[in-house]
Amino acid sequence: MEQFPPLNEAAVWDALRGVVDPELGDNIVDLGMVDAVEVRPGGAVMVRVALTTPSCPLRGQIKAEVTARAGAVTGVSAVDVVTSAMDPAQKAALMARARWKATQRAPKTTVPARARVIAVSSGKGGVGKSSVSVNLAAGLAARGYRVGVLDADIAGFSVPRMLGVTGQLEATRDAEDPERKLIRPVVRRVGDGEVRVVSMGFLAGEDEAVMWRGLMLNRAVQHFLEDVAWGDVDYLIVDMPPGTGDIQMGLARMLPSAEVLVVTTPGHAAQMVAARAATMARKSYLRVVGVVENMSAFRCSHGERYELFGSGGGLRLAREIGAPLLASIPLEPAVARGGDSGEPAALDPDGEAGRAFAGLVDTIVERCPVLQMTGCSARVLEALGALGASVAPVAPAG
Ligand SMILES: Nc1ncnc2c1ncn2[C@@H]1O[C@H](COP(=O)(O)OP(=O)(O)OP(=O)(O)O)[C@@H](O)[C@H]1O
Ligand SMILES: [Mg+2]
Repeated sequence: MEQFPPLNEAAVWDALRGVVDPELGDNIVDLGMVDAVEVRPGGAVMVRVALTTPSCPLRGQIKAEVTARAGAVTGVSAVDVVTSAMDPAQKAALMARARWKATQRAPKTTVPARARVIAVSSGKGGVGKSSVSVNLAAGLAARGYRVGVLDADIAGFSVPRMLGVTGQLEATRDAEDPERKLIRPVVRRVGDGEVRVVSMGFLAGEDEAVMWRGLMLNRAVQHFLEDVAWGDVDYLIVDMPPGTGDIQMGLARMLPSAEVLVVTTPGHAAQMVAARAATMARKSYLRVVGVVENMSAFRCSHGERYELFGSGGGLRLAREIGAPLLASIPLEPAVARGGDSGEPAALDPDGEAGRAFAGLVDTIVERCPVLQMTGCSARVLEALGALGASVAPVAPAG
């Protein structure tokens, strides 16, 4: 005869589904935070919970909740909660799950679900975010992809000039809902592909000072994500403003599938600041796809290398934030010239910077392949995409 009613381990797991991590907005079982449940003779239960950091501020709260929930299960006489810190693989899985959850809650945007969204960020100004954004966009378009470029630098826009795109934003009707008007991006064809650009530069003159305060800034980006006819873009490159503020949080909320490309210069100080951009990405559950070191060694016409802005910063940052170094773009007048003339250096395969950008484009196509969305398998693929898994790329549009 047992002293206690038979205790069902499954019932303890079910009860633990009632414990929600308030920061991640999901229950600890589905988030993969419960490592083990052990039921001992006599009804004592041991629950092993893995937390993101050993000193997690929510530790006490989660422990108390686990004790209360598991303790309420019939047959449980005592609850012992053992906490531990997650290993990197567990953390990655947890973040993927949280991102996936966030996707489910995100407001509807006009960015197609299959598009890969890459936010080009850095903690610091002037390191080459816009240069990397436009060269990446032009390079992808040259390979036949349809590339959206969202100039999220509302007050300091530079994308239209750098991509040589002029025009005005005009209204168009939503194909799905003719009652609704959308903003048509300004398009430039590049090879077999095209770039579709939206920027404040198409609304205000380039020299005009655009003064938008916090909320307005966020609204402008929201507008660009909700009311622009992006159409069937394969990639959406977001040129982020310097710093790590409201705009990134807004982007993360609206497009939780976005991935962050962190740009740094080779110097130590820039690398430290860039690390902040990566921390910010983590806080908003965005995946960091990798690091681009810009303004790396300049090679003069005699072949001599000059490390004007130091060396090794890209690799150090990559190691520090646990993301790959995807490219080192040399300091080269062609990059600045291309930015002024609107012919990105990436379109010139003979230049050293052009080759470096081509390498970056290859890496992005490989690491961030465009997903095919058809029928029922779409959801599975979408889930895989949200998990950052590698799926066979789709041939570019011809
Ligand atoms: N690899 C490079 N070689 C030479 N010049 C470069 C290179 N990368 C960027 N530049 C130049 O440096 C300046 C700053 O670059 P860019 O505008 O891309 O930086 P940013 O990070 O977007 O700046 P901001 O924070 O102001 O938005 C530009 O004049 C650009 O042409
Ligand atoms: Mg910029």
